[in-house]
Amino acid sequence: MKILVLHGPNLNLLGSREPKIYGSETLNDIDRKIADLGAELGTEVEFFQSNHEGVLVDRIHQAAMQKVDGIIINPGGLTHTSVVLRDALAGVSIPVLEVHLSNVHAREDFRHRSLIAPVALGQVSGLGSSSYLLALRGLLEHLRSTSQ
Ligand code: DQA
Repeated sequence: MKILVLHGPNLNLLGSREPKIYGSETLNDIDRKIADLGAELGTEVEFFQSNHEGVLVDRIHQAAMQKVDGIIINPGGLTHTSVVLRDALAGVSIPVLEVHLSNVHAREDFRHRSLIAPVALGQVSGLGSSSYLLALRGLLEHLRSTSQ
């Protein structure tokens, strides 16, 4: 299986960005944990971060051409605003899991709505870097059970 992990805007600042909300791990720390779990579970994982909506859209289109099996995405603030990101994910029909470090439902009202969730298999929110790790386990279980 080939999994793509996408990180949206501002996630490159993890470690120094609002640590009370997002914790002290850097994006590299988190990617390393995901890569280790990927190796343990026997799957290939690629990582990509961008602060630009269109660049993320291009990467999603490329994922379809690369025959990526599943996408884990933390769309950052684009979660709550981006029709184009939602349309890109819906357009490639690759199974997607949405993740958030913080519990978006326990925060400001504008974070309660996700434009991505309706086109995703599900959402893991509020568990810090474990959100990504649980998403990887869940996505692989889903892909393995549906590819037989
Ligand atoms: C976030 C939550 C979003 O509301 C916020 O804009 C982010 C990070 C999270 O991982 O908790 O950038 O996606």
